[in-house]
Amino acid sequence: MPLILGLETSCDETSAAIVADGRTILSNIISSQIDVHQKFGGVVPEIASRKHIENVIPVVDEALKTAGVNITDIDAIGVTYGPGLVGALLVGVAAAKSLAFATDKKLIGVNHLEGHIFANFLAHQHLEPPFVALVVSGGHTSLVYQKSYNEFELLGQTRDDAAGEAFDKIARVMQLPYPGGPFIDRLATEGNEDAISFPRAKTGDNYEFSFSGLKSAVLNYLNSAKQKSETVNNADVAASFQKAVVDVLVDKTIKAARKCAVNKVVLAGGVAANSKLRAELTAACAKVDRELYYPSLTLCSDNAAMIAARAFYKHQVGDWTDLRLNALPSLKLGEKKYFAEKR
Ligand code: KG4
Ligand code: ZN
Repeated sequence: MPLILGLETSCDETSAAIVADGRTILSNIISSQIDVHQKFGGVVPEIASRKHIENVIPVVDEALKTAGVNITDIDAIGVTYGPGLVGALLVGVAAAKSLAFATDKKLIGVNHLEGHIFANFLAHQHLEPPFVALVVSGGHTSLVYQKSYNEFELLGQTRDDAAGEAFDKIARVMQLPYPGGPFIDRLATEGNEDAISFPRAKTGDNYEFSFSGLKSAVLNYLNSAKQKSETVNNADVAASFQKAVVDVLVDKTIKAARKCAVNKVVLAGGVAANSKLRAELTAACAKVDRELYYPSLTLCSDNAAMIAARAFYKHQVGDWTDLRLNALPSLKLGEKKYFAEKR
């Protein structure tokens, strides 16, 4: 029963977890920095790195203690090495390399986005590839065809803003706290989603997204109302904006599921917590006879258990790395690269 220690420090959560067999969470400790960044209205990269340095070893200690295992019992250490904030990633990578070296354990570099997808294997014990996955987070919006545990094909992604980024920027202008996604989600339940007609980006017959036009349209709507001293129904704005995002995400995901001829669809990433997206995608999948899978709210947002789950399947095929592993902030999903190329 291989035991993996997972480490995640790509953005503003410092997390360590112990996962058995890639499916069973023995511990998943998450130290969130949200309250530190909230007063700045977003993540301050330099502060994030410093907080990770303070928290990373205590979080590993707690993960081992909660799981009731010793570091010597671990089979391999999996760590997020990209994509993400470079300074934040470096803290996790340095910690994982030091631990692997000191304890003579295998080291596994994990792609954060692949990790988000693998949260579903923790939430659904019998789920297996192939499937189409929609990965929607604060930094990414991607449609992926996952053929097997270690084969991914990126079908398309956003050309500009990520879905979560659009949620956060609009929430900020509406003076909602950071991160704004959950607040827009809640506010939208009190609004009318047909009240305002916001644009749905037409990116063509492909699997790409674009949210910057929608974001500008919402910001223009809010600004012009302010200039005219008109009162705005924020709940209607939240609901109409959210509907515009969800419509496009659902539409392209169903199209991808049809094209790849899979009967399973997987939702992953922080925005997978959105209640409207879950409801609409559930209904759309039912209509075309596809099964939809998504993780619990805790497993949707950044955590190390999903990183350990991804690492387990790399461990199975001997996809380890050595101590040259480096942080790669722009790493792509499915990309097999562990070090920055020498110039
Ligand atoms: O995956 P994640 O925790 O971090 C990244 O890898 O980016 O995603 C964070 C993003 C934030 O933009 C946050 O606002 C968004 O997920 N989010 C939501 C909801 N919960 C979190 N967006 C919409 N509705 C939600 N309920
Ligand atoms: Zn994430």
